[in-house]
Amino acid sequence: MQMALTVLFETTKYEVENKSFLFQYGPTIGTTEFRETLASFLTEGYCSEVNKSDLVQTSGATSGLHLILSTLVDLAGVIFVDEYTYMIALETISQFNTMKIVPVPLEEDGPNVGTLKGLFEQHRFEAKGKLFWGVYYTMPTFHNPTGIVFSEEKCHQLIKLARESDILIACDDVYNLLHYGDPDGAPPKRLFAYDIADLGVVEGWRGNVISNGSFSKILSPGIRLGWMDGVLKSGGAANNYTGGIVSTLIQMGLARRQVQLYSSNYSARLQAMLETLEIHLPKECSFSRPQGGYFVWIRFPEHIDCVALNQYSMEKHRVAGVPGPRFSFSGEARNFIRFTFAFHAPDYLRRSVASFCAAARDFMAKTGPV
Ligand SMILES: Cc1ncc(COP(=O)(O)O)c(C=O)c1O
Repeated sequence: MQMALTVLFETTKYEVENKSFLFQYGPTIGTTEFRETLASFLTEGYCSEVNKSDLVQTSGATSGLHLILSTLVDLAGVIFVDEYTYMIALETISQFNTMKIVPVPLEEDGPNVGTLKGLFEQHRFEAKGKLFWGVYYTMPTFHNPTGIVFSEEKCHQLIKLARESDILIACDDVYNLLHYGDPDGAPPKRLFAYDIADLGVVEGWRGNVISNGSFSKILSPGIRLGWMDGVLKSGGAANNYTGGIVSTLIQMGLARRQVQLYSSNYSARLQAMLETLEIHLPKECSFSRPQGGYFVWIRFPEHIDCVALNQYSMEKHRVAGVPGPRFSFSGEARNFIRFTFAFHAPDYLRRSVASFCAAARDFMAKTGPV
């Protein structure tokens, strides 16, 4: 907090002394300085080129999704979502009540592309006055809640399918820079990078992917700042002042340091959670072992109701996760639960995850076999 205030004070002083335009409305897509600084920060972080001219400043990924839905997709259109998906995005999407929501089966390496193709064929129509008739909202890298990363093969298939079906893929790319394998290695390639690689190569290329990014997980959610990569026109002005502050943070090298700090802390927290689950989780259950992001997704036997289990664990040990149905448009996934490892220190996680596992053993013993 102290550091945030110092940076804020110094940056504001600098801007005032230099007759800055940060206190004005600013250009709709964000200042050139912000987009230039962001482009070089992302190019370094993704280990893959990001162009300033493709970036649009937003107030975060959630408002980015609003913008995508309200400006680019026919309001009588269709929103495809993974069968398990980010719960707040589901709530956002549901506000667009003239649009149809269709869940898509998710496998360990991405959506079932054959089923997705069939669903696109079934729902496709001619968009009126908007660029796309439908959108597939997803998270190809460190998916929330499952933690999966889409395979290279699926990414190629998805790009091909999006082009053939004339559909937009809106990717929430908010966890990409939080990767815990080789800290100096590249994070998984964004789906957007597969699409843009064909610009000028594939005839009729129009851009079917938007990468919707945010500073919420890599600096702080309170600053309400994000960006979209891939939209050349936008109907929304965002947060000029914060954009200027964050440009300075990036230029001072503080943003990169913060991402490194988060990544090494979260990596230790993830290990603590995985080791504890390995030892204490009943053997009939399984769980994801993500390489990045915030979440571990735990599967219980089909007959176990994780909403009730979660409540039982909360009452008994004051430990809870988020039960599966919150991530499912159709209210399914009752035998799943999502844990977040990002918020607590390793020792705390070890104790609380062990308590949850004890509650799970009790609960399962009471419930009995199927
Ligand atoms: C997949 C995903 N998208 C978006 C967000 C929120 O982004 P923002 O704070 O920029 O709206 C989250 C936060 O949990 C998330 O998990």
